[in-house]
Amino acid sequence: LNYNVNRERSYILQVLFNGLRRLEYRGYDSAGISIDNDFSFSRNPNTPQSSSDTSLSSSPLVFRQEGNIESLVKAVYQEVAGIELNLEKSFTTHAGIAHTRWATHGEPAPRNSHPQTSGSGNDFVVVHNGVITNYEVLKETLVRHGFTFESETDTEVIPKLAKFVFDKANEEGDQTVTFSQVVLEVMRHLEGAYALIFKSWHYPNELIACKRGSPLLLGVKELNDDGCNGSAFHDAKFLSKNSNPKELFLSSDANAIIEHTKKVLVIEDGEVVHLKEGGISILKFSNGKGRNGDSRSARPASVQRALSILDMEVEQINKGKYKHYMQKEIHEQPESLTTTMRGRLLRGGSCKAKTVLLGGLKDHLKTISRSRRIVFIGCGTSYNAALAARPILEELSGVPVTMEIASDLLDRQGLIYREDTVVFVSQSGETADTLLALEYALENGALCVGITNTVGSVIARNTHCGVHINAGAEIGVASTKAYTSQIVVMAMLALAIGADTISKKERREAIIDGLFDLPNKIREVLKLDQEMKDLAKLLIAEQSLLVFGRGYNYATALEGALKVKEVALMHSEGILAGEMKHGPLALVDENLPIVVIATRDACFSKQQSVIQQLRARKGRLIVMCSKGDAAAVCPGGGCRVIEVPQVEDCLQPVVNIVPFQLLAYHLTVLRGYNVDQPRNLAKSVTTQ
Ligand code: G6P
Repeated sequence: LNYNVNRERSYILQVLFNGLRRLEYRGYDSAGISIDNDFSFSRNPNTPQSSSDTSLSSSPLVFRQEGNIESLVKAVYQEVAGIELNLEKSFTTHAGIAHTRWATHGEPAPRNSHPQTSGSGNDFVVVHNGVITNYEVLKETLVRHGFTFESETDTEVIPKLAKFVFDKANEEGDQTVTFSQVVLEVMRHLEGAYALIFKSWHYPNELIACKRGSPLLLGVKELNDDGCNGSAFHDAKFLSKNSNPKELFLSSDANAIIEHTKKVLVIEDGEVVHLKEGGISILKFSNGKGRNGDSRSARPASVQRALSILDMEVEQINKGKYKHYMQKEIHEQPESLTTTMRGRLLRGGSCKAKTVLLGGLKDHLKTISRSRRIVFIGCGTSYNAALAARPILEELSGVPVTMEIASDLLDRQGLIYREDTVVFVSQSGETADTLLALEYALENGALCVGITNTVGSVIARNTHCGVHINAGAEIGVASTKAYTSQIVVMAMLALAIGADTISKKERREAIIDGLFDLPNKIREVLKLDQEMKDLAKLLIAEQSLLVFGRGYNYATALEGALKVKEVALMHSEGILAGEMKHGPLALVDENLPIVVIATRDACFSKQQSVIQQLRARKGRLIVMCSKGDAAAVCPGGGCRVIEVPQVEDCLQPVVNIVPFQLLAYHLTVLRGYNVDQPRNLAKSVTTQ
């Protein structure tokens, strides 16, 4: 931040804490910050000093705390009583970094939280998103050079390596080694995925960011026209010190930036971004290494980069009138689906044609329709969305569609051919397993299509073509609106691929009409809110729930059970109804609640028969059926019925999932659990 010192006191802390709050959905088991030691402060004598290191007055302050962001905020204000800016000191820049962690290496504890440091004195402090795969080797080397480690994290090697590089340069008489040179040298040794921000005692008021694999954005607020006109950064020169006050933000997620600025630069792999005195310099070695394998001996090229404008509003990341993000996101599905379809469905005009237009795919549709196979790859809810769309894609494209859970494809190094089209489905566009599967498919020469909700995400950028689902920011860890938008995008994909098949014209047009009407149907099904709350009250003390579905709604069974499992912390299992007799029937008794999805489609009579068999075993049934079908699914009564509006069969999963989302939401609230941050789960799983 390069700002006016007369601004609010402890502004830097507020900005960092608010940024962390915006990112809390990505991880929330520990947090930390580091700020310049430009504060006049008095330590509160009553608080222990374990989580901070302020031993050297000029070194950056570091605070780390186990628990959520508010625990960190409390700890910082407790420890540093009466924190305030030293107004007598006329500094104009303040560089701070912060991190919210989701433990991968090492339990949640202050020593394992970020910023990780190079040791006492905080010569170098680092926050990290990602995973360093060769940290053990680096650690051994650093230990041999006298470094001692206090954490179990992979990250700790990074600041220590920076100190090692810095000290070595100085020992060799190079007093002019720059911050960028140190970081470039560190990067040469790191393997794995990372987005890093460095801060250093040796380079006060400067920050360095770099990345490989993990996402990182630079936000720029209050740009002037002095050398940086909003369209590009021209060279590695720093902007004038006297340029207008400006604030620069680095974040792995647009959510932490949007309330400050919409102007962002998506940092690319291998780039080193240096922020100093309000100036921005971007350097990169084309192959990541300098000549002679030493980054310092080569001349890094300065990089010219354009700024993008974020297409989101700050309201999107607020809860509005709702108590929880999950609740908000469930209820905004009529709008999110409308946005997903906007400009993509065409109906009417002179020829009255009904067509689909997917701009990001138009040059590749022929290749996709001639593929040997279409392979869907995803994790969690994104996988379920692809499964829901699979039947319509097969039907309309005539191309076999296979399903892969990303980790499983990687585990068995499954076959991917050059003639395959591989579709990567990921809300965040940064799930580690899906990303690695993308690299694998690219290596194998397949055409790679991305379906993501995050413009500029790695999956969006590294695929050959794709579609953004435009569902708006999804913050609740349990995916809801992204799921329905993903299904709709994949239904549109099926329509676009099969657009030339005359025999299926009527079918396609019926689906397009159905898509137009879908937001209304979702409004209708959302009226079941109270009914689902009542059902939740009934199920509150249950240990387990089974969900039977098939055909288009096999995915609904999996996704419905996943929702209940992940937020309400109740064991729940989605079962392919066709497999009922091959095991699950053994579980059926008069106590275990079972939901059967039996809305109208080609599988309806088979589901009627499933219901009969479950009833014959005294199953405790809750049946989801099309409006007016209560008697058809449950002749003679005796089961609880959830009636939903009927839509085109391939769109029915979009409607049918909503009551499950509502049920999971209410069950969670009634059971007293955290809806938006379920135990042990994170929104973006950026490590394997
Ligand atoms: C995590 C989230 C899920 C999500 C899955 C895949 O497990 O908690 O909600 O479905 O990752 O994430 P993606 O961003 O790739 O869709």
